[in-house]
Amino acid sequence: MVELTLPRESKIVAGRVHPKPVAAKNTKVFKIYRWDPVAGGQPRLDEYTIDLDTCGPMVLDALIKIKNEQDGTLTFRRSCREGICGSCAMNIDGTNTLACTKGIDEVCGEVKIYPLPHMEVIKDLVPDLSKIFAQYQSIKPWLRAESEITTGAECRQSETERAKLDGLWECILCFCCSTSCPSYWWNGDRYLGPAVLLQAYRWIADSRDETVGERLDDLEDPFKLYRCHTIMNCTKTCPKGLNPAQAIGSIKQLMVARKV
Ligand code: SF4
Ligand code: SF4
Ligand code: FES
Repeated sequence: MVELTLPRESKIVAGRVHPKPVAAKNTKVFKIYRWDPVAGGQPRLDEYTIDLDTCGPMVLDALIKIKNEQDGTLTFRRSCREGICGSCAMNIDGTNTLACTKGIDEVCGEVKIYPLPHMEVIKDLVPDLSKIFAQYQSIKPWLRAESEITTGAECRQSETERAKLDGLWECILCFCCSTSCPSYWWNGDRYLGPAVLLQAYRWIADSRDETVGERLDDLEDPFKLYRCHTIMNCTKTCPKGLNPAQAIGSIKQLMVARKV
């Protein structure tokens, strides 16, 4: 397990301490990474104190409360608020996870929140995901079954074949795993990283797909696949309990199997 290095951590300065809520008896301190590309300057950690008696139980509830009541400039992504869209991925208390499924009471003491590590920051807690989504697009994440198109027949799957997709289809592309992977930090321009490789395997493992050989050919590259050194940060951090390292291992096994 390699420790996460947070974005620009060495350059983060102490920021503004926002006023505590008046008469609140049950409070919690949040220290949140702030950086505004328009204002420029050093990133900072702003401090907010919230009244837990008037806040929902999740870290995302606290962020929304802060934005609504204390500081409308705080910027973060969120959508579903129930762990299915992947938008609210961030680093909370030293772990990449989803703000909407992380309970405030899971964190002892003050809650420190940073954007996903080792990504360019657009503003505050919003990382730039354009490169990683381009990598996702590169693995052609859709079913390629020409015979279905030409014959119009259904592409059927047995229960056993369908079961092979369990542990893969649940991925919500939050990228908590890729941004916790040291190999991806160091070689993210060429290594696809655990999230994209798990997705690649999701289509390789699909009995209906007719391009498995082509998909494996595309991954036969010293960097795209083989930069995974089985460090396991990815599997440890996945908030959906998936195992990207195992998916990567399965692709490697298929690579070996087709050579013997
Ligand atoms: S197992 Fe592979 S993909 Fe997962 S963190 Fe380690 S190097 Fe990265
Ligand atoms: S494997 Fe898990 S951590 Fe990685 S992108 Fe998918 S859901 Fe997120
Ligand atoms: S808001 Fe959708 S996963 Fe958190």
